[in-house]
Amino acid sequence: MDTAFLILILLSICCTTLTSAQPCYKSACSRVEPVIQFPFWLKHSQPDSCGYPGFGLSCHGPTHQTILTLPSGNFSVQGINYTTQEIWINDPNNCLPKQILSLNLSTSPFLGVFTQYFAFFNCSFHYTKNGLKPIGCISDGNYTVYATTSFKVIGLLSGVCDFIAMVPVPAELPFYEEVVSSDLDGDLRLKWEEPACGVCVSRGGQCWLKSNSSRQVECFNVPKRGLPSGARYAITIGAGVPASMCILGLLCFLCGRVTSFRRRNSNRVRLEGASSTVAPRPTVAVGLDQSAIDSFPKVVVGESLRLPRPNDHTCPICLSEYKPKEIVRSMPECEHCFHADCVDEWLRLNATCPVCRNSPEKPHPVP
Ligand SMILES: *[C@@H]1O[C@H](CO)[C@@H](O)[C@H](O)[C@H]1NC(C)=O
Ligand SMILES: *[C@@H]1O[C@H](CO)[C@@H](O)[C@H](O)[C@H]1NC(C)=O
Ligand SMILES: *[C@@H]1O[C@H](CO)[C@@H](O)[C@H](O)[C@H]1NC(C)=O
Ligand SMILES: *[C@@H]1O[C@H](CO)[C@@H](O)[C@H](O)[C@H]1NC(C)=O
Ligand SMILES: *[C@@H]1O[C@H](CO)[C@@H](O)[C@H](O)[C@H]1NC(C)=O
Ligand SMILES: *[C@@H]1O[C@H](CO)[C@@H](O)[C@H](O)[C@H]1NC(C)=O
Repeated sequence: MDTAFLILILLSICCTTLTSAQPCYKSACSRVEPVIQFPFWLKHSQPDSCGYPGFGLSCHGPTHQTILTLPSGNFSVQGINYTTQEIWINDPNNCLPKQILSLNLSTSPFLGVFTQYFAFFNCSFHYTKNGLKPIGCISDGNYTVYATTSFKVIGLLSGVCDFIAMVPVPAELPFYEEVVSSDLDGDLRLKWEEPACGVCVSRGGQCWLKSNSSRQVECFNVPKRGLPSGARYAITIGAGVPASMCILGLLCFLCGRVTSFRRRNSNRVRLEGASSTVAPRPTVAVGLDQSAIDSFPKVVVGESLRLPRPNDHTCPICLSEYKPKEIVRSMPECEHCFHADCVDEWLRLNATCPVCRNSPEKPHPVP
């Protein structure tokens, strides 16, 4: 009876969603090019309302390359991850360093994921010692250009070459060591904060503009998977692994809300309305009390976004990336990290690490 009612709610939501959906289909410049979907759109074949300002793409040349036009020039799109809200770009003319020298992201919606400053030097052609790797495409027979992050090399070249500029390079991977010289031929890796559709996409939903005249986005067609209705069912049946899995689903939900709030983002998940009609907070808690939770180490994410070893850049609970100044809690023993907001909820209900199921029940004593 209860379940039937739920299905009815879900059905009615699906129907509203389908009728209000705009005719913006996924597209691509060719079979081997990246899939294009909101917030990107194909400028010459789709209406502007299919995308978000600054995310227009076009297809160029005989190979139908996907091109992103930034204020400083045109870039070929190598890949897009709609979950992590990242894009990999390169130079369609195979001279990325030339583009890097004039790159200015300040008026674009994008920013670097791992930005690293490189010093560029312009040397007369006979300066080729030290095994430095010249940047071929902006050097010629009369002069040689180098890019480096090494203070030693900067000191060396400063005396003999012309300093061009110190340039922020949105690199593909973080550099943990100095780069003696680089021809900078890897892709540039950029991310976008707005519109924040990553959580929606990761749940299998579709993100669109709420209306033509606003910049607010809305999440449609989120599949039923991971809904708290399941949590309630499992919790009623009993404890154990299935219950925990569903609580994790519930947490993803809660944390998604926290995250989108944190992003000052007004996107609304349609199904959240439904979720408030079901699943009261389970009372079968076998979690930790607040003082035990508080005794687990907390760290503030730094600009380098570096966390201790088993972790990457994404919170496994809410699937959004850590940002500088966010508070992260790490589990004793296994050192798995999570947004404190996300994992505290979990620990109140479960005494285990959400990733490895280690029991952190013997917390380090509070000093
Ligand atoms: C970028 O591509 C557009 C065509 O889509 C062209 O009109 C424009 O001149 C190009 N800009 C640069 C800097 O090459
Ligand atoms: C996007 O990134 C996430 C997290 O790194 C990864 O799990 C996922 O497979 C990526 N998606 C694509 C399409 O590459
Ligand atoms: C980038 O562009 C903005 C706006 O056009 C300008 O204010 C800023 O100085 C530029 N930054 C650099 C490093 O050129
Ligand atoms: C390097 O210097 C030469 C000679 O002054 C100049 O023609 C060339 O444009 C410079 N290259 C760069 C990348 O600044
Ligand atoms: C190098 O400089 C010489 C003399 O200034 C000039 O004739 C020649 O064209 C230059 N070579 C290149 C590749 O620019
Ligand atoms: C939004 O704009 C597109 C074309 O620009 C138009 O076809 C569509 O009807 C508009 N939708 C609304 C809700 O105004």
